Amino acid sequence: MIREVYSTRTLEGCRLLVAEDADEAASLAASIVEATLSEAASPVLGVATGATPLLTYEMLVRRGLSSHDLRLVLLDEYIGLAPNDERGFAATIQRQLASPLGISPDRVHAPPVSRTLTSARCEGFEREVRILDGVDLQILGIGQNGHIAFNEPGSAFDSRTRAVLLSPLTKQNNCSMFGGSDDVPERACTQGIGTILEARRLLLLATGAQKAAILARALFGSIDPAVPASAIRLHPDVVVVADTEAARLLPATA
Ligand code: PGA
Repeated sequence: MIREVYSTRTLEGCRLLVAEDADEAASLAASIVEATLSEAASPVLGVATGATPLLTYEMLVRRGLSSHDLRLVLLDEYIGLAPNDERGFAATIQRQLASPLGISPDRVHAPPVSRTLTSARCEGFEREVRILDGVDLQILGIGQNGHIAFNEPGSAFDSRTRAVLLSPLTKQNNCSMFGGSDDVPERACTQGIGTILEARRLLLLATGAQKAAILARALFGSIDPAVPASAIRLHPDVVVVADTEAARLLPATA
């Protein structure tokens, strides 16, 4: 059962949907993706990596999301991995979503990664996305420290695509793919918060009890770079899909 939770004063422009569990959240998120992309002439889906969106991707694949003309744009990528490293985000999205949907790698756009990343290359990526006429729907996860993509706390709300250092908590949370935190790359290239806010619609997914505190802070605390995800409240068209566990600490408004 889906509950819609409103607080018009603090969440203007933002629909907050609470699903029973992660499976129901994924099913709902998949329906939002399908509905949004079906209205786009040349659909562009912004994709996040991590544990949270995986069920949604599985659902989209199972339902056979129409991939005709669909392009995918990644939020971020590690710096320092070999181009064919399976742990990279481009490889992960290719495996989890693009290949099963029949989307070829040339229709998947990822931030640039080289050890000597120049601002010109970052600007080139942003230009590439603008040439696609921007992102119709951006899927976002939320880090336990409130990050969106790899915009760690303190990132400016008008930040653009750039190289960043990963926080110790982010490295620790991402270490399962790397067999120990020491192996997680130190740096990544991420879309900035300003870049992300240019997508026409945002879909933030949060599941599990470990996201409860930060989700409540992001949605109902102050809008502050200390909690990068709070920036989504500056966007006019946001859907947040949480499961009951992640929604546990949200104020009970209806
Ligand atoms: P997770 O990561 O989905 O693996 O929890 C979310 C994030 O760091 O954005």
